[in-house]
Amino acid sequence: MDIKGKVVIVTGASSGIGEAAAREFGREGAKVVLAARRVDKLEALAKEIEALGSQTLVVQADLSKLEDIQKMVSNTLQTYGRIDVLVNNAGFGRLDWLENLDPAEDIQAQIDVNVMGVIQTTRQVLPVMIQQRSGSIINMCSMAGLVGTPTYTIYAASKHAVHGFSEALRREVKPWGIDVSLIYPGGVVTEFSQHAGIKRKTNATTPKFMLLTAEQVGKAVVKLVRRPRRMWIIPWLWSVTVFLNRFLPDVVDATTIKNFTIPERVDELYKK
Ligand SMILES: NC(=O)c1ccc[n+]([C@@H]2O[C@H](COP(=O)([O-])OP(=O)(O)OC[C@H]3O[C@@H](n4cnc5c(N)ncnc54)[C@H](OP(=O)(O)O)[C@@H]3O)[C@@H](O)[C@H]2O)c1
Repeated sequence: MDIKGKVVIVTGASSGIGEAAAREFGREGAKVVLAARRVDKLEALAKEIEALGSQTLVVQADLSKLEDIQKMVSNTLQTYGRIDVLVNNAGFGRLDWLENLDPAEDIQAQIDVNVMGVIQTTRQVLPVMIQQRSGSIINMCSMAGLVGTPTYTIYAASKHAVHGFSEALRREVKPWGIDVSLIYPGGVVTEFSQHAGIKRKTNATTPKFMLLTAEQVGKAVVKLVRRPRRMWIIPWLWSVTVFLNRFLPDVVDATTIKNFTIPERVDELYKK
């Protein structure tokens, strides 16, 4: 697909990966619809993209609300008359032991944005793409969509849901000329960790050489429009973990519990 002139919706465009992807689509001459809650950030990005010579539409939307999703889609259609690319990127993680997560603010909210936001946005856009007989849907998954790690229970559940949803959808919509791609980044340096509430006793973290920038993932998202892929794990080295988790789950369980769960929880374990 030639990206120039295409109408692209990017959710979660106010920071991180979504912002980087939207900027990259702007560089390629797309008409970029920027959606998120922080409208000031979207407007600043819109100015930047317009200075590159591309058109933008800013839509303030809380992706956990169906009426906001409907408004985003109808504003896009009123302005541009079609939707060629949907990047379901908005999302966040609250990473703590399950019993510490707040049932509403942490658990329900993650499911509402990471799962329901993706499903409902796709549901609103799909009839347009079916009518066009073309389109590209790119869903932001995560390594957590393939491998469950302690403190990632709800986040992993949400990203596994995105994985399953996208796999089924891909097999539904291909005859209409619609591609569904999934991208699974490992750690990316964005605002994500500021919202995640991570508390660690050990220094367990993604090794520096495996960390990606938002720009690297943003560029990968744009590449997926040109060359759709069922699964893109970045960096590729994470595929080794996915392989081990699939074929040697006992080893991964034992290693994770010994090296992460017990050292992190040792004080609570032996507390009387
Ligand atoms: N960073 C990582 O290590 C990593 C790794 C793998 C996958 N991911 C995934 O990548 C995606 C983007 O994350 P990021 O790393 O770029 O984090 P980020 O910088 O925190 O960006 C998250 C984006 O999602 C938007 N968002 C959150 N809740 C929203 C809501 N209710 N309604 C509308 N927009 C909402 C935020 O916008 P507003 O706050 O303005 O609404 C923001 O634009 C997420 O799906 C995340 O799960 C991240």
